[in-house]
Amino acid sequence: MAASSLLTVCVLCATAFRTGFGFHTVSAIYGETINIPCGQDVMQDLLFGKWKYEKPDGTAVFVASRSAVKKSFNFDDVPEYNGRLNLSENYTLSISNARISDEKRFVCMLITEDNVFEEPTIIKVFKPPSKPEIINQPTFLETGKLNLVGDCVAKDSYPDGNITWYRNGQVLLPVDGVVTMEWWKEKNSTSGLHSMRSTLEYMSTKEDINAQFSCAVTFYMPDGLATMNSDPAAFNIYYPTEKVTIHVQSPKKTIKEGDNITLKCIGNGNPPPEEFLFYLPGQEEGIRSSSAYHITDIKRNATGDYKCSLLNKIMIASTMVTVHYLDLSLTPSGEITKQVGDSLSVSCIPSASKNVSVTWMKNQKILAQPSFSNLQYRDSGVYECETSLMEVDGLRRKKTLSLTVEGKPRIKLSKKTNSDGKSKTILYEVDGYPKPEVQCSRLGNDLYLNKTEETMLSNGKYSAKIIISPEENVTIICSAENKLGREVHSLNVSAISFPETDDGVNSSGDNNDHAKLIVGIVVGLLLAALVAGLAYWLYIKKSGSRSSRHIQEQPAGERGWDRLKEGAADTLSTSKHVGKELGNTEENKKLEENNHKSEA
Ligand SMILES: *[C@@H]1O[C@H](CO)[C@@H](O)[C@H](O)[C@H]1NC(C)=O
Ligand SMILES: *[C@@H]1O[C@H](CO)[C@@H](O)[C@H](O)[C@H]1NC(C)=O
Ligand SMILES: *[C@@H]1O[C@H](CO)[C@@H](O)[C@H](O)[C@H]1NC(C)=O
Ligand SMILES: *[C@@H]1O[C@H](CO)[C@@H](O)[C@H](O)[C@H]1NC(C)=O
Ligand SMILES: *[C@@H]1O[C@H](CO)[C@@H](O)[C@H](O)[C@H]1NC(C)=O
Ligand SMILES: *[C@@H]1O[C@H](CO)[C@@H](O)[C@H](O)[C@H]1NC(C)=O
Ligand SMILES: *[C@@H]1O[C@H](CO)[C@@H](O)[C@H](O)[C@H]1NC(C)=O
Ligand SMILES: *[C@@H]1O[C@H](CO)[C@@H](O)[C@H](O)[C@H]1NC(C)=O
Repeated sequence: MAASSLLTVCVLCATAFRTGFGFHTVSAIYGETINIPCGQDVMQDLLFGKWKYEKPDGTAVFVASRSAVKKSFNFDDVPEYNGRLNLSENYTLSISNARISDEKRFVCMLITEDNVFEEPTIIKVFKPPSKPEIINQPTFLETGKLNLVGDCVAKDSYPDGNITWYRNGQVLLPVDGVVTMEWWKEKNSTSGLHSMRSTLEYMSTKEDINAQFSCAVTFYMPDGLATMNSDPAAFNIYYPTEKVTIHVQSPKKTIKEGDNITLKCIGNGNPPPEEFLFYLPGQEEGIRSSSAYHITDIKRNATGDYKCSLLNKIMIASTMVTVHYLDLSLTPSGEITKQVGDSLSVSCIPSASKNVSVTWMKNQKILAQPSFSNLQYRDSGVYECETSLMEVDGLRRKKTLSLTVEGKPRIKLSKKTNSDGKSKTILYEVDGYPKPEVQCSRLGNDLYLNKTEETMLSNGKYSAKIIISPEENVTIICSAENKLGREVHSLNVSAISFPETDDGVNSSGDNNDHAKLIVGIVVGLLLAALVAGLAYWLYIKKSGSRSSRHIQEQPAGERGWDRLKEGAADTLSTSKHVGKELGNTEENKKLEENNHKSEA
């Protein structure tokens, strides 16, 4: 379409195309119709018009003629123009399907009776080439050497055109050793059309990544120079590795023993190198491998510098790998049984890739590092020693020690008269582990006495009560037994008519102190009585020998004792109370002694 409109324009302006030689020129586009106006005014006395062209040798070939009188026209038998010609009434010659060979000098002849007028017109034919194409494109360009970028081909133009190469829209000009171009032009001898080809060789650099190469053909058209561009071509630019990097791929940020890791070596070239040498810590010899080197179940001794290089051993990259680990050693550990009073030292020592501290726990409670110089029942339990490496996800260790403190049974008895005055309570306290079995019975009667539920006083110590209402003085025997031994204590309990002291039901120590106090009071009273007696004796002596005979009738000691007692009784109004105290003290003392007599 564009070509035909171009043609129309040029036909219209054809008369203006007078060349320097005074010729008309008609420009036409290949394949279209050439309209050649006659170029002169038609005169009144015209007989006929005629068209001819001139061969290079100057001879003329007539192609068409038209009679002005008969209004008829005919074409000469010129094979080249058979069927392609038309001659209009105004003597414009039309040649359809313009060819390169139509580029000739045509002459319009107007013939009158007495004259022949000739007007020559020069024909120019133009044909645009095919769209230029870059063929023989390589798949990649290598930096540092001349690469064939391709052949730019534009076919079948008339006249011939020129090919220009572009990089990113900028004309590429030949530069020695960097940009070289070679072109060829060939003419098809039949059609007379020209084909152009240009080969570009180019020294590429990394700058050419994403660069676009194209070529253009410039050619003549009736109205001047025209240009047609090829599709752009981009190339994969190959460049060598300039730097190698190594990095570690691990499941977590930090590496711990047992992890699987991958060392990844990367070269920054294009295409990236596929093989490397990997150097393990302390090893000179590289191991040839693909870019990924796998290490499974990594051990602590794998900590160190890992390197990799290209196969030619240049460009070495290195990275430090730290394999974290955490061990915990608890001694003793597991199930431990010790006797009460024993000593036990425990230690929990961590060994790790970083400084760590341990935490001791017992019953979910944090405690200080335990150390036992005198094991108690309360020391029994499960001890946990725990440590963790904060920085390393999931690296924690725990060891446990299950401590059992064993001991023979120890039982203590005490008694009191209940406030109702009708029953007495015997209380026992027992400890020992395993928990001792306690049975109490009345001396001389094998029946076990009913006792209350045992209550736990503290870790490993239990107590229970036995309530009895003895009609007569009885001895209660209690035995405590576990697999380690047996302890038997007895206790004299007087009949309900005799109240027991409501003394400490707990400790013999208290009873002892009480007894000592009472003994002290008694001794004090005796001393007071002695002083009184001495005074009395002096008085007797002073008042003559009135009763000396009577005195001599009795043994001196006995007489003196009786008098002392009487004197004391006279002196102290509380004598009755003291006597009662004294009696109870005596019983208590005896009970105490009995209490401490144990049968193992
Ligand atoms: C001659 O006639 C043709 C059609 O017959 C017309 O297109 C053309 O413009 C005419 N030329 C001149 C110079 O009158
Ligand atoms: C092609 O190049 C030649 C030589 O430089 C020049 O004379 C000619 O005019 C050019 N042709 C086109 C179509 O540019
Ligand atoms: C490490 O890889 C081995 C097999 O390659 C697999 O059996 C093991 O479970 C992996 N270990 C971890 C911690 O993923
Ligand atoms: C690392 O320790 C493992 C045992 O845990 C042993 O098999 C291996 O040979 C050791 N590697 C080095 C390099 O010492
Ligand atoms: C680890 O402990 C050692 C001594 O126990 C100390 O010298 C070192 O500084 C500690 N390191 C860190 C990181 O706390
Ligand atoms: C002990 O208690 C039971 C019931 O709990 C009773 O049957 C039994 O007679 C009691 N024994 C004595 C000796 O009191
Ligand atoms: C019972 O014991 C009391 C003292 O606790 C004593 O005075 C009394 O004589 C005793 N009775 C018998 C029958 O032994
Ligand atoms: C308990 O009474 C018995 C006699 O019934 C006596 O032999 C024993 O010595 C007494 N024990 C104590 C500790 O008083």
